[in-house]
Amino acid sequence: MNGVLGFWTGHWGALATFAAVIFVAALVHRYAPQKKRRTRRITFIFAFYILAWGLTTLFGSMEMARAAEWLSVTTQLFGAFTLVTWLAIVLFDLALPAVGVDVVAITTDIVVGVAYVLAMLGVLRAADVNLAGLIATSAVVSAVLALSLQATLGNILGGVALQLDGSIHVGDWVQVDATRQGRVKEIRWRHTVVETRDADTIIVPNASLLASNIFIYGKKDGLPSPRRMSISFFVDFRYAPSRVISVVTEALGSAPIARVAASPAPDVVCMDLGRDQAESCARYVARYWLTDFAVDDPTNSIVRSRIYAALRRAKIPLARPAQTLFLTPEDDTSEQKRSERHFEKRLAAIESIELFKELTPEELRLLADRLHYAPFTAGEIVTKQGAVAHYLYVITEGSVEVRTHVEGASKPVSTLEAPAFFGEMGLMTGEPRLADVIALEDIECFRLEKEALQRVLGERPEVAEEMSRTLAKRRIELIAIRENLTAQDKGEREERERERILGRIRSFFGLG
Ligand code: CMP
Repeated sequence: MNGVLGFWTGHWGALATFAAVIFVAALVHRYAPQKKRRTRRITFIFAFYILAWGLTTLFGSMEMARAAEWLSVTTQLFGAFTLVTWLAIVLFDLALPAVGVDVVAITTDIVVGVAYVLAMLGVLRAADVNLAGLIATSAVVSAVLALSLQATLGNILGGVALQLDGSIHVGDWVQVDATRQGRVKEIRWRHTVVETRDADTIIVPNASLLASNIFIYGKKDGLPSPRRMSISFFVDFRYAPSRVISVVTEALGSAPIARVAASPAPDVVCMDLGRDQAESCARYVARYWLTDFAVDDPTNSIVRSRIYAALRRAKIPLARPAQTLFLTPEDDTSEQKRSERHFEKRLAAIESIELFKELTPEELRLLADRLHYAPFTAGEIVTKQGAVAHYLYVITEGSVEVRTHVEGASKPVSTLEAPAFFGEMGLMTGEPRLADVIALEDIECFRLEKEALQRVLGERPEVAEEMSRTLAKRRIELIAIRENLTAQDKGEREERERERILGRIRSFFGLG
């Protein structure tokens, strides 16, 4: 033992210790820069070592044997501490993280603390210091400290318990009090640091954290998991719950929403049929699984927008307060007034469509009259390739992307910016939808049913000729993507395609 310890008082010992400290500091700087705190500690201890070493050498040369002896023990003590710190860095900061093992801070601190004590006892024993007396003194000191620092000790024990039993982890979302939630940033000896979404930091004493229930969001079987979120909405009794549920479920599941898990899929349930006599609406709850709790409100908002748009398309209004219902009862006149108000908007939409440029003002008004408001939110699929076509769509705000499936992959065909139309191919030929059309942002959109076009084409079949030209052009563009057509191929096939489409329109609409 003495031989080993004596090493630290020699020249080579000091040099080797210096080299080891520099080496490990360089490694930390390179591979674990976030653990720099520990390098500072080893530098500090090493500085004491070098100081003690220098004084030992000085006093030794001055032949002050007694002082030199004591200083030599101090040198050995700091040498041993430097070694313990060095080993701790290599083990806990470099080696274990490199193999993917992350030891919690408190465990590391306890192990290192015990190692310091053992190192100290080892050095003192080798120097023949009376350990029994030392231990007795430190036991008395510990008891006095324990009494005076009861609250602090409670927190410290709380911290130890929290980390060792792994009940909460850094990164967990916890409920701090009745109104505040936050993400655990750090679990320290005395307190836990929690950061809220509003960029506030809450320091929670560990003892108080343990004294109450800890609510951890989105965690199951000890592992992070999507959290179920509930969005309430109210719909009047006039609309059957089964219909409301199917409309909203369809809208939430039809296209992915960022941070909403695909599985388990969102669902909708009817929670209540009016809580008291005054209410004439049912309460529904759309439930979905949120994959990133940090973004809960924005995701809720996207889900609400999608619910709103789906209900608007299905002509299911959100419930109004009962009082308003009594004051302005829904009847045909109010509906008519409202539709007149919106007529101008619809007419402008129809007039902006190139497909209808051959139509007379009366025909345009007829179509505008039969246009229905159908908004969609970003990411929703408006038409699905292969589906049966029921509508032609006109967008007055926003943009959509047309995509087609080629050999299993979805490829972009074009982007349509408002004012624009789509869905005409399926509606006018009766063929399945040729492409997916996806809302790139929230879009203001109207749709037209076949019956409206039937009336126009029935009276003036020649209009179909001009329309078939637009349809052929789009269709050839689509085929060009699927079959890699050259510009010349496209030109040649367009006329043939136009005739084929015209034939389809004529037979589908029963035109002579
Ligand atoms: P439909 O086939 O009914 O449904 C998908 C729609 O995508 C289609 O009608 C067109 O309106 C639209 N579409 C297909 N190809 C193109 C294209 N090349 N350019 C613009 N829109 C297109």
